[in-house]
Amino acid sequence: MVASDARASAAFSSRDGPHNVRLTLAQRPRRNRKAEWARRLVREHTLLVDDLIWPVFLVDGVGKHEPIASMPGVLRYSIDAATAAIKHAAALGIPAVALFPNTDPALRDAQGSEALNPQNLVCRACRAIKAAVPDIGVIADVALDPYTSHGHDGLLEGDEIVNDETVATLIEQAVNQARAGADVIAPSDMMDGRIGAIRAELDAHGFENVQIMSYAAKYASAFYGPFREAIGADKTLRGDKRTYQMDPANSNEALREVALDLEQGADMVMVKPGMPYLDIVRRVAETFGAPTFAYQVSGEYAMIAAAAANGWIDGDRAMLESLLAFKRAGAVGVLTYFAVRAAELLRDGKY
Ligand code: PBG
Repeated sequence: MVASDARASAAFSSRDGPHNVRLTLAQRPRRNRKAEWARRLVREHTLLVDDLIWPVFLVDGVGKHEPIASMPGVLRYSIDAATAAIKHAAALGIPAVALFPNTDPALRDAQGSEALNPQNLVCRACRAIKAAVPDIGVIADVALDPYTSHGHDGLLEGDEIVNDETVATLIEQAVNQARAGADVIAPSDMMDGRIGAIRAELDAHGFENVQIMSYAAKYASAFYGPFREAIGADKTLRGDKRTYQMDPANSNEALREVALDLEQGADMVMVKPGMPYLDIVRRVAETFGAPTFAYQVSGEYAMIAAAAANGWIDGDRAMLESLLAFKRAGAVGVLTYFAVRAAELLRDGKY
């Protein structure tokens, strides 16, 4: 039976009114959706706890769980509290966490020198977490924005973020974090040439096995707003990051950025933000076949959390649907502030 016959039959039958329509169709896609067992059988993509990376915000002190106004449900943890929360995450099966410090404003300066302090918040956290929860992967971000008084990821000379001078600091930051036990170094700064420079410096210090997850295609995005509140860079940031982060209008450029980072030794690449850039995730994953991650950033979290809090959407279902979308687009994993909640739902088989 071909489609035109079906249409003819429908048109003929409909003269008797809508209740008497008799379609004869060879292809009825709905058959495969008729029951949960059938839907499970034909399902193409699955969200697993293995896909989740949990970004964790850190703050100095003891026993702290500070709320972040623009990210309801997300907390800043002191190292002891973070370690306990990460134990729970590991027990749920979450493979890795990504650490982000809210540095004491008194320790921020124009050079971001605190980034190189072996006793800084992230380094202390790496050591504590690796000691208490050795089997979870610890990802440390490389960029200067949690440490600079001007809130930029790099060094400022006049109005310019100077590339090569910044890279010279980033390679030291990377080694500092590797020494503290970071398993993965994740450069989020978008300076040119930093992946190769960091790889060489890590190797020169005997850290050949420390992986690099590159924020390869990172866009200058309004969706980072709540993150900047979380790390305390919202008030410090002067200007914007458009001279180093990518123009949201570009797609081919993302492929060039990813190609450069892979050539320079990135083990994993990331696209960021996530949901508004699924097309980029798809192109990167298909073009290179390298482990490709998406970062569902703070603003994406905030939108889902805010709509859910208002009762406008079912928060859990919207969250899981958004995470599954990354898998469908070709990502092997997702950095998401929902990681713990998603892992609990997956464990309980709720969805
Ligand atoms: C900074 C960095 C940012 C994020 C991760 N690393 C913000 C920025 O570039 O301004 C954003 C994460 C998020 O919004 O959740 N190096």
